[in-house]
Amino acid sequence: MKGGPVYGGMRIADRVPVVSWILASVLAWLPAFPPSVEARAWQSTDGAVVERRVEELLARMTLDEKVGQLNLAPNNPSFDMREVTEGHVGGVLAFTGPRSIAQVQAAARSSRLGIPLLVGLDVLRGLRTMFPLGLAEAASFDPTLARLSSEVAAREAVALGFNWTFAPMADLARDPRWGRMIEGFGEDPLLGRLFTRARVEGFRAGGLATTLKHFAGYGAAQGGRDYDAAEISNRDLFDNYLPPFRAGIEAGAESVMSAFHTLNGVPATANPALLTTILRERWRFDGFVVSDWDAVSQLMDHGAAAGPAEAAVNALTAGVDMDMSALLYRKHLGAAVRDGHLSEAAVTEAARRVLRAKIRMGLFERPSLSAANDAVPPPTAETRAAARRIAQDTIVLLRNTGVLPLGAGLTEPPSRRIAVIGGMAQSPKALIGPHGALVDEEDGLSVLDAMRRRAERAGASVAFSAGCAAECADEGGFGAAIETARNADAIVAVLGEPEGMTGEGGSRAYLTLPYRQAELLRRLVETGKPVVLVLIASRPIELGPVVDRLAGLLMGWFPGTEGGNALADILFGDVAPSGKLPISWPRTVGQVPVNYDRLPTGRTPDAENRYTLRYVDEELTPLFPFGFGLTYTDFKISDPEVVTPRLPRDGSLELRVRLTNTGSRPGREIVQLYVRQLVSSVSRPLRRLKAFEKVALGPGESRVITLRVPAHDLGFHREDGSYTVEPGRFVASVGASSLASLNTSFEVVE
Ligand code: BGC
Repeated sequence: MKGGPVYGGMRIADRVPVVSWILASVLAWLPAFPPSVEARAWQSTDGAVVERRVEELLARMTLDEKVGQLNLAPNNPSFDMREVTEGHVGGVLAFTGPRSIAQVQAAARSSRLGIPLLVGLDVLRGLRTMFPLGLAEAASFDPTLARLSSEVAAREAVALGFNWTFAPMADLARDPRWGRMIEGFGEDPLLGRLFTRARVEGFRAGGLATTLKHFAGYGAAQGGRDYDAAEISNRDLFDNYLPPFRAGIEAGAESVMSAFHTLNGVPATANPALLTTILRERWRFDGFVVSDWDAVSQLMDHGAAAGPAEAAVNALTAGVDMDMSALLYRKHLGAAVRDGHLSEAAVTEAARRVLRAKIRMGLFERPSLSAANDAVPPPTAETRAAARRIAQDTIVLLRNTGVLPLGAGLTEPPSRRIAVIGGMAQSPKALIGPHGALVDEEDGLSVLDAMRRRAERAGASVAFSAGCAAECADEGGFGAAIETARNADAIVAVLGEPEGMTGEGGSRAYLTLPYRQAELLRRLVETGKPVVLVLIASRPIELGPVVDRLAGLLMGWFPGTEGGNALADILFGDVAPSGKLPISWPRTVGQVPVNYDRLPTGRTPDAENRYTLRYVDEELTPLFPFGFGLTYTDFKISDPEVVTPRLPRDGSLELRVRLTNTGSRPGREIVQLYVRQLVSSVSRPLRRLKAFEKVALGPGESRVITLRVPAHDLGFHREDGSYTVEPGRFVASVGASSLASLNTSFEVVE
């Protein structure tokens, strides 16, 4: 961004609620990970020097060399190293080992101009040490954790020669049928902004350039079907889908990836309104845009280009600077310029953006790496500690009748004999899920092994029976599992989604427990023993009536390398759960989307009146609301007080509220502030998350906390994308979920 962020700086934009814990918590963690040489080189770049160096390079480049910078070549059997030596490749992806990366980078250095390559990979949540995925991290409501995991991931990746990640995914998503929801930060634009920003900052601090993807509206695929078209009104787009991208750009993202799909009838890969008008003209983004995989070529499938040459020209002129893997820019752009179908200035401008990023990143100054082989170093004690701590904070306790935490002396009666059931409990791989980068799935402990290690100290024993494998195709093992369960005081069932059901291409039409797992759970519940269900899944799972018969329910997501330990920490009460849902959890797939921030209706829901907003065969509300999550103690939120009842448009709302731990154990609560404007020129959401704070309190402890919202954040976008804050009365609701019911009010004045 022109005049934009200071590289490497903790730039907290003035428009986002400033939460004091961000700095405190980051500073507490950083000393363990001092800035790398690469990151320091990166920080020292000066705008004018960068531009001068870019222009000097461009002046020396042939047309074909400029086109070469726009070519992102995949490492596949037809990869030709000569293309690199001849200066026809600007970046590579799918190289996975330090030796091969060093070789390809050396080839680029030996080219006529020696321009280094961008070496990209989907480092979404770790390189070898796996952290939880984006949606899970959002459940921590603590962006400093996302910053930390991204920095650790970047350090692992940079040490091997990578310099660019295709992350973070900033796509807002309201439909759990969409398998990629797990990569993003859920349904709320504030969480989207804070977590996108934190990830960009973390990756950059570790030396990796970032890619905000998938621009834009990819999470709104119709029917939750990956790659399907999306229709989004301008107001929804500007108010909800775009702000996380903008936050990422303000934090210094170097690139943006255009999406695969068609937005309001125009493919995102050839969409000048998105890529030029919004991104470049309105937001002043001066990094580069990369297409998604083969998406330039897919313009022909969209019916947006008659042939490959036209596809290349259409994508470039719309604003896609770099062609990922289709090789169509390489094949056709030079000829298009020579034939007069494309101006050389358009190619030069795209090359300028790519080179600017390379110079800003300090790629020319980074030392050449060498490696004897392609081995990827294993997690260290430090990366494991970070992964465990973060996974702990992402786990959400959704139900507890008193059986948790497990173990002698903690509950009455104590659960000394624990039966662990489910094939997923045995497998460290089951805890990884999609987008494992260069993970070794055996690096971690399974839930079963972690629980066994911990049980002895709790005075408990653990018996195991799989019941069935993760795919749970047959019921042959159910008998033995039920027998094991009958002999226990408490049952921990580890069930959920195998990796193949999630991530890219992982759209689902059902949200139920897959295969025979629902039947296994029903039979376990029928034993009459308390059943704790640990869900390993990418999305809310439709549980049906069995949910009311569960003694405990933990959402574990895909918790990563240290996921087994983190779950054992929570199950045995070494750590109290503190996660909250970053997405509303539907009762049934038919309710989707059921996001909390819907607009009011003229027919306010009334169970007694058919002609109001309702279903005839299901509740209107989700099973678990957005922002909901329990812990092992009780909290009371009280005495909300608006300090600024008359708020000028350039002021900041201040609201004080008291939080008291009324239980007998320490714990953490996430106090949430939701806001609604009662009357304005357009209909405004019933409530909108505007600030939150995660607070740790001991038993009996009480504290007054202050939540702040800049008045600027209380507005909305008009259809033309312009932004306004309209004066008027607002209701502020404070609570521990999106059902927050402590209401006060304030007024925004001229
Ligand atoms: C995905 C992108 C990813 C790219 C490269 C595509 O299929 O949509 O998110 O970055 O592949 O792996």
